Amino acid sequence: MKPKIMILGPVLAVLLALGAIGAWPALSGQDGSETRSESRMDTSAFDKVRRPAALFDHDDHNEKAGLDDCAVCHHVWENGALLADESSEDSPCSECHGLAPGPENSMALANAFHTQCRTCHIDAGKGPLLCGQCHRKIQGGE
Ligand code: HEC
Ligand code: HEC
Ligand code: HEC
Ligand code: HEC
Repeated sequence: MKPKIMILGPVLAVLLALGAIGAWPALSGQDGSETRSESRMDTSAFDKVRRPAALFDHDDHNEKAGLDDCAVCHHVWENGALLADESSEDSPCSECHGLAPGPENSMALANAFHTQCRTCHIDAGKGPLLCGQCHRKIQGGE
């Protein structure tokens, strides 16, 4: 036991010193980059996940974007028409948008997200449009 502790001691001291001077930015987020606790989309509806989950902090996003009407995103359609006075915030998008387009819904899930997010960002002239701006690499692994 003893020799191990004697080796670990100095190693720990170096690591602690690095942490203290902020030389460990990827893990500590001290360079201003996102840390692991930031809000991202839940990707569990996809069977394969090829990209880091998209950045999306629901309430913060909608407040900054000035979106009060839930149905702008959580919509309800019937017979090919959008129902103006109804919203579907109790259902995940995947409840209606399958991984592949089907008879019930012509827009597959990834396409549904991309179309909704990007269309508004283009119209608003604000918000990310490029792959890496939404699917930003997660700092410090995970
Ligand atoms: C900019 C689009 C947008 C607007 C506006 C919006 N939401 Fe959402 N909301 C989303 C997305 C995207 C998700 C994630 C859906 C998914 O993963 O299938 C979500 C998820 C949710 C969830 C599920 C949360 C969870 O953890 O499962 C609730 C509840 C919700 N929204 C309520 C609301 C309410 C209430 C409003 C209006 C005050 C609103 N949303 C406005 C886009 C939006
Ligand atoms: C209750 C079922 C339902 C839910 C939940 C739902 N959708 Fe849809 N969505 C539809 C239907 C039906 C259509 C019409 C598709 C068609 O024409 O085949 C549609 C159309 C769309 C379209 C194309 C038309 C448009 O509005 O631009 C997009 C984009 C879209 N949905 C994104 C989303 C996103 C993102 C979510 C989650 C925030 C979501 N949908 C939640 C049923 C739903
Ligand atoms: C109805 C309009 C609208 C929709 C839909 C929308 N956004 Fe945005 N988004 C905005 C606006 C406007 C901004 C700029 C806000 C500001 O002024 O900072 C923005 C900004 C952002 C930003 C920059 C950081 C932040 O939170 O402000 C991210 C990331 C983002 N959007 C992700 C998404 C994703 C992911 C979706 C789809 C799930 C989405 N947005 C759907 C309007 C929208
Ligand atoms: C405005 C934000 C935004 C932009 C820009 C964007 N995506 Fe996405 N993307 C999303 C959201 C939201 C989802 C659904 C939740 C998730 O996977 O994070 C998604 C899902 C995906 C998925 C399915 C899930 C997975 O990881 O396999 C792929 C693949 C994907 N995007 C690739 C791309 C590519 C390639 C580009 C550029 C051409 C791109 N995205 C641009 C927001 C965006």
